[in-house]
Amino acid sequence: MLTIKQKKVLDFIETYTQKHGVAPSHEEMRKHLKLASVSTVNHYIKILQDKKYINREKNAVRSVEIGKKDEIINIPFRGYIAAGQPIEAIEEYETIPVPRSLFQQGELFALGVKGDSMIDEGIFDGDTVIVRKQNTVEDGETAVALINNNEVTLKKIYREKNRIRLQPANPKLKPFYVKEVIIQGKVISTFRNLEEQELKSGKIKLNNIYRSDCVEFMKSMDENSVDLTVTSPPYDDMRDYKGYSFDFENIAKQLFRVTKKGGVVVWIVGDQTIKGNETGSSFRQALFFKEIGFNLFDTMIYQKTPRGAVGSNKTYWQTFEYMFVLSKGTPKTINLLKDRENKDARDGDSGTKRLSDGSLLKLKRAGYSKYGRRTNVWEYLIGRGHSASDKIAHEHPAIFPEKLVQDHIISWSNPEDLIFDPMCGSGTTCKMAMINKRNYLGCDISQEYVELAKKRLGK
Ligand SMILES: C[S@@+](CC[C@H](N)C(=O)[O-])C[C@H]1O[C@@H](n2cnc3c(N)ncnc32)[C@H](O)[C@@H]1O
Repeated sequence: MLTIKQKKVLDFIETYTQKHGVAPSHEEMRKHLKLASVSTVNHYIKILQDKKYINREKNAVRSVEIGKKDEIINIPFRGYIAAGQPIEAIEEYETIPVPRSLFQQGELFALGVKGDSMIDEGIFDGDTVIVRKQNTVEDGETAVALINNNEVTLKKIYREKNRIRLQPANPKLKPFYVKEVIIQGKVISTFRNLEEQELKSGKIKLNNIYRSDCVEFMKSMDENSVDLTVTSPPYDDMRDYKGYSFDFENIAKQLFRVTKKGGVVVWIVGDQTIKGNETGSSFRQALFFKEIGFNLFDTMIYQKTPRGAVGSNKTYWQTFEYMFVLSKGTPKTINLLKDRENKDARDGDSGTKRLSDGSLLKLKRAGYSKYGRRTNVWEYLIGRGHSASDKIAHEHPAIFPEKLVQDHIISWSNPEDLIFDPMCGSGTTCKMAMINKRNYLGCDISQEYVELAKKRLGK
């Protein structure tokens, strides 16, 4: 399946190649598609390549070729269908790619199913059905039927003496009868997203990653259920996350609702500089968290090594992000990391001193342990070979280091606790929770990142 943005990239490569006889350069793609950097272009090309939409000669300039046309076809997604409901407006960008080999003949379209009138045919609420356009079906076949001129319904069709029976495939529902029906197509296949089914039925399973907008996802979570959230939201439109919007205030409110008393949220965020002026969004967010009841327990710094430095030639290199440690009341778990080498380390000792009256005073000199408590500035090497112990993670454009997440997990949670990341991207938080014997829940709005995260966790 292609996201809207991926499809735009593919369309551009295709039209450019048709017009110029060669593929666009990375820089032309970056400019035309308004992508942040050439590495973002590379990111999309890799996805399109992996999904076999394009072929590419390694590292060659303008070497992208549109893949064989007959491998994948995009069919229009024409909205949702439910008993008695009209199909909603068709959104131009909504298409579903399907393998041509599976659907060889006819004109096809897809519909999202609402309701449970066809459950005995294995078609459930939330499924997507693939429909072949045709104006007749055999008795007993499942069809998209237009009745009363403007209502579209999904039913089994039976012709009776003077009428047509529209039969639901659900024993709880009665058939209904019409004189006339216009068949719009026959259902030839059904796709199901199991996680979306679980979400809808309110049965979120622990140790799983879901595709969902995080506000909607948190609404279906129990209140006071999360011990620790470690997350890094998209900030200041710095990167292109496929055009998904970001509803900070509702995310913050839902985070407060789902966090246990004494639970912690680590919110990792930076600011963009626009025309020499920093946005200050990070501070505004921290203050909003306080307004809605969180305690700003610590403002920590995630210091990236100079490799991560960015900035104009008029400023010092920018190399850090904030890590706001927010707690619901006082944190219930605090396991401070003590791995800072102490230069003054020495053993304690004791002795005596004779006082002027001849008596002996016992003296005790305190020792300093070899390692002391860390400062609240944490420094990590970033980039390939440093941020993640696997290669898959780098298919996401903005991962945070595994070690950083692990350090927070150890600091603010215990084994068996529930660790959450509402915008989990490549699944770093979930992976480190799993390794550290905690339960986890992750969600991301992008299906592609959810698949990536699952692959990373070996799911
Ligand atoms: C900075 S990235 C997180 C990267 C992650 N920490 C990692 O290590 O891979 C932000 C993520 O938020 C996701 N996102 C954006 N808006 C969202 C929303 N409304 N609900 C859920 N996820 C969202 C994006 O798809 C993106 O993967």
